[in-house]
Amino acid sequence: MSQPTIESILHEERLFHPPAEFSQHAQIKSLEQYQQLYDKAKADPQAFWAELADTELHWFQKWDTVLDWQPPFAKWFVNGKINISYNCLDRHLTTWRRNKAALIWEGEPGDSRTLTYAQLHREVCQFANVLKQLGVEKGDRVGIYMPMIPEAAIAMLACARIGAVHSVVFGGFSAEALRDRLVDVQAKLVVTADGGWRKDVIVPLKEQVDKALAGNSAPNVENVVVVRRTEQKITMESGRDHWWHDLQAKASADCPAEPMDSEDMLFVLYTSGSTGKPKGVVHTTGGYNLYTHITTKWIFDLKDTDVYWCTADVGWITGHSYIVYGPLSNGATSVMYEGAPRASNPGCMWDVIEKYGVNIFYTAPTAIRAFIKMGEQLPNARNLDSLRLLGTVGEPINPEAWMWYHRVIGKERCPIVDTWWQTETGGIMITPLPGAVPTKPGSATLPFPGILADIVDLEGNPAPASEGGYLAVQHPWPGMMRTVYGDPDRFRRTYWEHIPPKDGQYLYFAGDGARCDQDGYFWVMGRVDDVINVAGHRLGTMEIESALVSHSAVAEAAVVGKPDDLKGEEIVAFVTLENNIAASDELKNELKKHVVQEIGAIARPGEIKFADALPKTRSGKIMRRLLRSLAAGEEISGDTSTLEDRSVLEKLREG
Ligand code: PRX
Repeated sequence: MSQPTIESILHEERLFHPPAEFSQHAQIKSLEQYQQLYDKAKADPQAFWAELADTELHWFQKWDTVLDWQPPFAKWFVNGKINISYNCLDRHLTTWRRNKAALIWEGEPGDSRTLTYAQLHREVCQFANVLKQLGVEKGDRVGIYMPMIPEAAIAMLACARIGAVHSVVFGGFSAEALRDRLVDVQAKLVVTADGGWRKDVIVPLKEQVDKALAGNSAPNVENVVVVRRTEQKITMESGRDHWWHDLQAKASADCPAEPMDSEDMLFVLYTSGSTGKPKGVVHTTGGYNLYTHITTKWIFDLKDTDVYWCTADVGWITGHSYIVYGPLSNGATSVMYEGAPRASNPGCMWDVIEKYGVNIFYTAPTAIRAFIKMGEQLPNARNLDSLRLLGTVGEPINPEAWMWYHRVIGKERCPIVDTWWQTETGGIMITPLPGAVPTKPGSATLPFPGILADIVDLEGNPAPASEGGYLAVQHPWPGMMRTVYGDPDRFRRTYWEHIPPKDGQYLYFAGDGARCDQDGYFWVMGRVDDVINVAGHRLGTMEIESALVSHSAVAEAAVVGKPDDLKGEEIVAFVTLENNIAASDELKNELKKHVVQEIGAIARPGEIKFADALPKTRSGKIMRRLLRSLAAGEEISGDTSTLEDRSVLEKLREG
């Protein structure tokens, strides 16, 4: 696979204009209109966001200050009172959307369910009352560890309704990873299911919750609510565990949305960084509501008749912002899919598009590369005429995959929005607006209006156009993360002081390398820190190293990413063993299993390489750059003069 390189970017000359028919009916119709919005937002960001907040959202009470910026801490719409669950549900009930499909759920194996706005509202109100009855109060944290079922969205919206803070943990994480997150966020209650379907097998979610809570290891958790999904046998601990359907049946459907302060915490979502411990990214209410609302509306060019499908899992930020909050705030019909392509059903995604007449399809480059491998006969055998807009997110898309998506899925008539953003940014930051901005395969194109993106060196100086540098953002935006849960200092250091502030000017450091071309188009090249991107999943190499080192046979470990055709990157672990331990294939397998147990299947190393020693600098730092080259089978280039013992490198190369 060819990831973008500076050379390939310089040679990418293909330009795809939005089809005239598309632009004519689009929310943003031309490059001029985009430019006007961009200029207006740049000239007076506060006025720009305030106008949108006023026209697009319902407020119980208007704010008195648009932005209070005490770098790096921002408050948006200060003293405004709002509830995102109200904006996602109640305000649609007095319109014709009352009986419009809010969520269309396609489950496994062959289950399906549609919830109208009125039905979803009812379920959310009931579950909000359930939470209250179980003692959950405004500000309390609730863990959500769920399969891709409507109850996941219902639980999120119910928390938001009463002001509880949700912390969704991806259902693919292990019991250990779940426990770490529940403990860090001090969750009072956990919502889960007996099990969830993942590619023809059942993931025993409740069993994992039991393990995570065993021995009172997450002492704040008082109650567990369990959705019956897969009907497998589980144990219910009396007094602690409750069936969702029992509680829901008895709960009143009357639960007015709590007026929240605009800056009240909405959710905490954990993500990997360049240290061993995942960070709890904190998002608050008003700014996040506005940012996800307006990005969904303009980038996905929402029409009231659209069926919109984002294939992410609600356990990730993409699911939060672009399955649940953004689409529902707009009154859209959002598809939620529990399945995934696999050998037994390789064409399932195209079946879902055909079955529901999906108009907007948003997925990840790694999925597109898997579709390419499975062959175009699969999509070609389905009717995909309903599609009018395609999107990608999660990693740089290689131009070959972009072209395939454009030709085979989009039939050369659907614009593609390649959207760059992060858990931390809350919503999409760099992207084409599909009716306005011509696209180039592999480029996320231009910043969203109100986003002042820059490419700089580590001193914050503009990077020379031909060289590339670090992606940074100049001015706060409503959807930005507010802090790291429980660690404001880490927030400051990681994101705002990595590039030292100059004259009180702070730059948000995204952790990605990027380049701008002669047209001002952004080309994101990937992470520049110790974070790797495996099949669109963001993983910290240090987390995997900690997991490896926690095994008794391991003395030291260094983890790097190696380019992979399908997954983008593959995990390669270099491991030195304790003195009395012999290297073997069995041990390799055991270590892989151990990582799965500590973190989850997404972190399983593709390769483990045993070594006598790891290459280090004289000050004892592991030289990952050299290991990356070794893993990729490349010649070691660059400076190796700081290497303490050159023979280490020779040995690694030989064996
Ligand atoms: O490296 C960038 C990559 O994904 C990282 C953010 O990961 P996460 O917080 O898990 O959020 C993923 C979904 C928003 C970024 O730092 N990334 C995301 N989208 C793109 C991308 N890289 C290139 N192009 C994109 N469109």
